[in-house]
Amino acid sequence: MENIKRYLITSALPYANGPIHIGHLAGVYIPSDIYTRYFRLRGKDVISICGSDEHGVPITLKARQEGVHPQDIVDKFHFLNKDSFEKLGIAFDIYSRTSSEIHYETASEFFKTLYDKGEFIEKTSEQYYDKEAGQFLADRYITGTCPHCGNENAYGDQCENCGTSLSPTELINPKSKISGSKPVLKNTKHWYLPLDRYAPFLKKWILEDHKDWKINVYGQCKSWFDHGLQPRAVSRDLDWGVPVPIDGIKGKVLYVWFDAPIGYISATKELTKDWEKYWKDPETKLVHFIGKDNIVFHCIMFPAMLKAEGTYILPDNVPANEFLNLEGDKISTSRNWAVWLHEYLEDFQGKEDVLRYVLCANAPETKDNDFTWKDFQTRNNNELVAILGNFVNRTLVLTQKYFGGKVPRITELAPYDKKTLEEISRIKSKVEYSLENYRFREALKEAMDIARLGNKYLADTEPWKVIKSNENRVKTIMNISLQITANLTILLEPFLPFTSEKLRNFINFTARDWEFIGRNDLLTVGHQINKSSLLFEKIEDEAIEKQINKLQETKKENKEMEYVFPPQKENISFDEFTRLDIRSGIIVEAEKVPKTQKLIKLKIDTGLDQRTVVSGIAEFFEAKNIIGKQVSVVLNLAPRTIKGIESNGMILMAEDPEGKLVFVSPVEKIRNGSEIK
Ligand code: MF3
Ligand code: ZN
Repeated sequence: MENIKRYLITSALPYANGPIHIGHLAGVYIPSDIYTRYFRLRGKDVISICGSDEHGVPITLKARQEGVHPQDIVDKFHFLNKDSFEKLGIAFDIYSRTSSEIHYETASEFFKTLYDKGEFIEKTSEQYYDKEAGQFLADRYITGTCPHCGNENAYGDQCENCGTSLSPTELINPKSKISGSKPVLKNTKHWYLPLDRYAPFLKKWILEDHKDWKINVYGQCKSWFDHGLQPRAVSRDLDWGVPVPIDGIKGKVLYVWFDAPIGYISATKELTKDWEKYWKDPETKLVHFIGKDNIVFHCIMFPAMLKAEGTYILPDNVPANEFLNLEGDKISTSRNWAVWLHEYLEDFQGKEDVLRYVLCANAPETKDNDFTWKDFQTRNNNELVAILGNFVNRTLVLTQKYFGGKVPRITELAPYDKKTLEEISRIKSKVEYSLENYRFREALKEAMDIARLGNKYLADTEPWKVIKSNENRVKTIMNISLQITANLTILLEPFLPFTSEKLRNFINFTARDWEFIGRNDLLTVGHQINKSSLLFEKIEDEAIEKQINKLQETKKENKEMEYVFPPQKENISFDEFTRLDIRSGIIVEAEKVPKTQKLIKLKIDTGLDQRTVVSGIAEFFEAKNIIGKQVSVVLNLAPRTIKGIESNGMILMAEDPEGKLVFVSPVEKIRNGSEIK
């Protein structure tokens, strides 16, 4: 194992403007939790830091939309998210928040230190201002057309379509998000961190000294360097945030990406008086777990801040993940396209580890990945139930059955037994290597190999057959199976903490020391195990269908919301309108036109006659169900032949954004032939 004195592990502080979803978990919090739990099991001095990021424009915008104070928004989501993390077993040492007093102090002090050292550039420049709202328009308060890709909804700081980071003045046709008006330019003073000044240092530090970083991280940094680092504003004209701590300055706050990472420091301060040893002793290994959209801030901006301050250590690694998609589409908080953690915890009580397992097994470590409910079900049923659950269950049930739940004695080890036991240590080393190199998917797969090993061992040695002829041999087999089970409780703990605990209770085993893995004497002879139940349950189709239906419902809602109705057609004269002869009539016969998808042949009593009309409504109505229906018919539409049938007129239908059709007919019963005008 690497020889490190202590670990400081941070996980990106989620914005407190929405709930946690599976994308956050797979990208950041599950890996950081596995990493933390692993080093805890190894007895290391390790702390895991997280909390809510409670500043930034998305929060103030949401507050404005809902007509509440930003503090109400962050209170709501801070506690919801804190609670959800706990329930999923994400074992942070502290879950703090950036609206706390200690954070305001820490962030102000940090800014002041840099200010006093002359590390900032002060610059007055023209920025967009909303005259109606009486406010400068920072970052996401402004939208417009992206100069790179033409996306009409690009934000003042970034285009989400092409990923380019922008400044508001680059936007074509800028528009205020507050009033919708066209903003004007107005002078304002701000403080800038001259990243260009740190470029030579940062370049060497990353490109030369940290070739070990993940290629997605390394590559993104390199591309920032290639484009050249620019001074970056660290203040904003807003009233929600940490006030700029300079005498005489009002109405300005620290830029959210300046204050949020300092949140890691304030949270550590809140956690322990000893915080400085974690942040200032070069023997501490600092690791930031983040998503790929956070790379520049954690690899360039925050390190530049720490370096400028001068007394802090820099991260040893920044293992950023790519994104997780959901059923083929990008996860989106605003479009409600997500699996929300708090909802999962409600719908799948007792299945916390299933989510942990699936998200780790499918983590977007090297490329974007897709979460599907089908895959979730398959992994549960075919891996957790069929491999891990099956092995444990067979071991425990057979031990109860043959030996009354007492660990039997090994009589003689066969070469195959020895080989099986040796395999555990080999797997242990592999898991360690993978974990220490941030390859969590691989680590989980390897850890599961111990359950696979156990299953194979039972299948090969067949104790249920041997028991009839050689009880001593079965004693050995069950002892070994139980030792494998005890090993599993430790090895699986970082990944599946609830399962590990359940399993420890089953076998009445309390030791939690990583170094024990590989030993074949974890359970002593005669040790009594408890009565057990199933470790995992099968997930049935209904549970999965319920989730898929929920997503389909969301898709429908989004389609409706995003649908743009066609603009009004050109005017016609009153005379032109009166040339239409529309009457009320009744469908007297209806039959599907054979070999077509959409067509129904109708006979309509128009009051003047009974005539044939062919109508494209078969996708929405069954012919026999519409007989007797009152409809509106355009009588004087020139006849048309459709599929060999002459159609004399047209019935009026309304079509919704989804393309669904409904009849347009007089709402009350009226005599056939009545004019509609
Ligand atoms: N709130 C940010 C996000 O969700 C992450 C902030 S990380 C910190 O993208 F370092 F700034 F705290
Ligand atoms: Zn763009």
